[in-house]
Amino acid sequence: MLFDRSIFKYGGFDKTRRSRNGRRTMLFKKKKKVEKVQVDDRLQHIAFIMDGNGRWAQKRGMPREFGHSHGAATFKKVGRYCESIGLKYMTVYAFSTENWKRPQKEVDTIMKIFDDYIEECFLEMEDDNVHFRFIGNLNIFPQSLQEKMAKIDRETSHKPFILNIAVNYGGREEITHACNELIRQGKKEVTEDDISANIYTAGCPDPDLIVRTGGDLRTSNFLLWQSAYAEYYFTDVLWPDYSSDDVDEAVAAFYSRKRRYGGV
Ligand code: FPP
Repeated sequence: MLFDRSIFKYGGFDKTRRSRNGRRTMLFKKKKKVEKVQVDDRLQHIAFIMDGNGRWAQKRGMPREFGHSHGAATFKKVGRYCESIGLKYMTVYAFSTENWKRPQKEVDTIMKIFDDYIEECFLEMEDDNVHFRFIGNLNIFPQSLQEKMAKIDRETSHKPFILNIAVNYGGREEITHACNELIRQGKKEVTEDDISANIYTAGCPDPDLIVRTGGDLRTSNFLLWQSAYAEYYFTDVLWPDYSSDDVDEAVAAFYSRKRRYGGV
């Protein structure tokens, strides 16, 4: 299953256990409940910087790779939930152009998770409402993987929920790549529309909301062009713990803000 269908409000549910009388009891203090939101046209595209996998694992005395496996499971649950509340686009930062600097074992694990996911997508892409897109400099990947990504993208392109998975992605690399593409097209002068039409997310509206988990307050080279008027939401929750309640909270914060786009 590409997206986890099993649990919708999995946030609190995960933290319960059955007592002897069969009732669910809370293991931890119940989190403040927020309203489940259904989004409207003001919020179509949400993007996630899925940070905190390594710390989540280390807090449990486990290697960082353990956190990435749990992070991948969270990604599936959050994806399913975002689709269920009416979002039309979701973008996730799975691997940056800078992440190659990590220890080889960790890079290999993330690539293996990604590879397995592509394989799953390839075999099960008919089952979901998802149009899978892969954004970033994909040339670095083996030809066979590139072909699989292209086929998955092509064969799901009629599906209504668009999921951009950013791999070997960097915002600066993306803008540079778009400029070089325009030079190749023979342009002597470029417009903003030209650049928008040549970045990896071309055809997809800019994100309305960018959520970063893990407590750091930076953009880390993510969607630099597209984020010009995005609302940001930062949370200390580490990505593997991120739940549907946390999505609701970010969405509620988005709706409490007034977007002025430079106007008044
Ligand atoms: C950041 O946490 C996370 C990453 C660099 C990798 C994210 C990858 C996944 C969640 C798997 C995605 C899989 C698919 C199939 C899209 P970190 O390692 O920087 O955490 P830290 O800040 O605690 O060190």
